[in-house]
Amino acid sequence: MRQAIVLRFLVGILVCSTVSYVEAEDPYRFLNWEVTYGEISPLGVKQRGILINGQFPGPTVNAVTNDNVIVNVINKLDEPLLFTWNGVKQRKSSWQDGVLGTNCPIPPNSNWTYKMQMKDQIGTFTYFPSTLMHRAAGGFGGFNVLARSVIPVPYQKPYEEFTVLVSDWWKKDHKELQNILDSGAPFPLPDGILINGLPRSSSFSVVPGQTYLFRVSNVGLTTSINFRIQDHTLRLVEVEGAHTAQEVYESLDIHVGQSSSFLVTVNENPKDYFIVASTRFTKPIFTATAVLQLAGSRSPASGQLPIGPTYHLHWSMKQARTIRWNLTANAARPNPQGSFHYGTINVVRTLVLANSAENINGKQRYSVNKVSYQNPETPLKLADYFNIPGVFTLNSIKDTPPADPAVLGTSVIGTALHDFIEIVFQNNENTMQSWHFDGYDFWTVGFGSGQWNSTLRRRFYNLVDATTRYTVQVYPNSWSAILVSLDNKGMWNLRSAIWPRRYLGQELYVRVWNDEASPYTEYDIPANAILCGKVKK
Ligand SMILES: *[C@@H]1O[C@H](CO)[C@@H](O)[C@H](O)[C@H]1NC(C)=O
Ligand SMILES: *[C@@H]1O[C@H](CO)[C@@H](O)[C@H](O)[C@H]1NC(C)=O
Ligand SMILES: *[C@@H]1O[C@H](CO)[C@@H](O)[C@H](O)[C@H]1NC(C)=O
Repeated sequence: MRQAIVLRFLVGILVCSTVSYVEAEDPYRFLNWEVTYGEISPLGVKQRGILINGQFPGPTVNAVTNDNVIVNVINKLDEPLLFTWNGVKQRKSSWQDGVLGTNCPIPPNSNWTYKMQMKDQIGTFTYFPSTLMHRAAGGFGGFNVLARSVIPVPYQKPYEEFTVLVSDWWKKDHKELQNILDSGAPFPLPDGILINGLPRSSSFSVVPGQTYLFRVSNVGLTTSINFRIQDHTLRLVEVEGAHTAQEVYESLDIHVGQSSSFLVTVNENPKDYFIVASTRFTKPIFTATAVLQLAGSRSPASGQLPIGPTYHLHWSMKQARTIRWNLTANAARPNPQGSFHYGTINVVRTLVLANSAENINGKQRYSVNKVSYQNPETPLKLADYFNIPGVFTLNSIKDTPPADPAVLGTSVIGTALHDFIEIVFQNNENTMQSWHFDGYDFWTVGFGSGQWNSTLRRRFYNLVDATTRYTVQVYPNSWSAILVSLDNKGMWNLRSAIWPRRYLGQELYVRVWNDEASPYTEYDIPANAILCGKVKK
């Protein structure tokens, strides 16, 4: 009798643990991407594009929090290729980040499989090829991570969602643009601007009176855009994985590499309306239009396009400050985002990173604190893992802008896992900048004009409800400041999202490290890792 009870008890435990094991296994999504050249003509001129499974732009990835997303990339181009997942946080695994500092590129006519988990994240992101100037020819797409059904989103459930990709565009293909940069000539102005790959004719079918979620990303190379919809307002609900205070805007600036999502309640009046994306801070201004097509519409979109800002830098900076965290809203987990009191944490290190245009050995380059980045033949992450000397040295870049002449180099900043740091992007140039940090979201605590100094930190930072994001803009002759909790071990790319600048050296890596080798802090090298450079044996 007694034995039977004990036995049942044991069986109970076994059954329970089996069940919980099954529940702990998160769903898998398998994607197979064949990447090829193909003819496209977004601006009416035939040109060579980069297609994924025959599509330009590439397919939208839709995943749910904690999903495993497995992407087998088959490279049918004539050049080595990598994709990076802009804003999708590779937790404990810079091995999957898809940049030349972490991965050997996928050679032509071969394939490589990315294995990523959408652990504890929601949000609107993008992907694109990180190699050479490939993304100038396509290969980009939307990457949405939706909340699990058990976690309510802090806004009205939309009737439907739209993924909207806005990009500046050139009639020259990626190799022609690369040749321009390699020759040292200035990068040309774009020839136009596209919404989901088309300058005029993208359309979004909607039902009057219903509310839609627009996930809008700037996947362009150089140009900030302003987005607006005729006779409609945009209620901002999310930027790059953070739920925002739901401010209502007539139009919204989205800088290169950034994503925002907003709710749009469609007018009851059944006519079509213009959707407009126009370039910011450029002369001339380029404009793309799409159509909000209402069910039962009796007239095509007509009338004046809604007016947007053109130069108006301060307008943009002011708008940036209105984008705030919703402290009581959840994100991927049920607990409120604001329960992490970032403003009360001690900053242990301040990095001031200044971008500059340089002439090095007679060629146009761009640098960060006077170092213009050059990719070594061996990815930094592999060199680190296999203890190969001579690939990089830590702190090969100064914490603040030096007076030294600019040099070519392989900049890696060494930091300790769990440090809480401040990064100030100081832009003393007359052009717009945009910075992206892989593996991290960060608090965008301050935007200001002129030279940053530590007095400004105390006076002008938002230490209460600044939103987190992955990409921050820096206005001409201005600074932007972020706070980052370095909680993700790995080798992480910190780069200009302005692609010609990144191609010519405006990037670096941040090595976030502790000496404990443990899968709790970082996953081991993937079994399928491609080897190259000094690691090739
Ligand atoms: C290449 O694709 C095949 C399936 O077609 C797969 O079995 C293999 O693991 C892939 N190779 C790599 C290195 O991921
Ligand atoms: C913040 O999110 C909550 C839901 O958690 C919502 O009720 C509230 O309206 C939001 N606040 C703002 C300012 O958007
Ligand atoms: C910091 O910058 C502000 C605004 O530009 C300026 O008024 C102040 O004098 C500066 N402080 C220092 C210590 O340089």
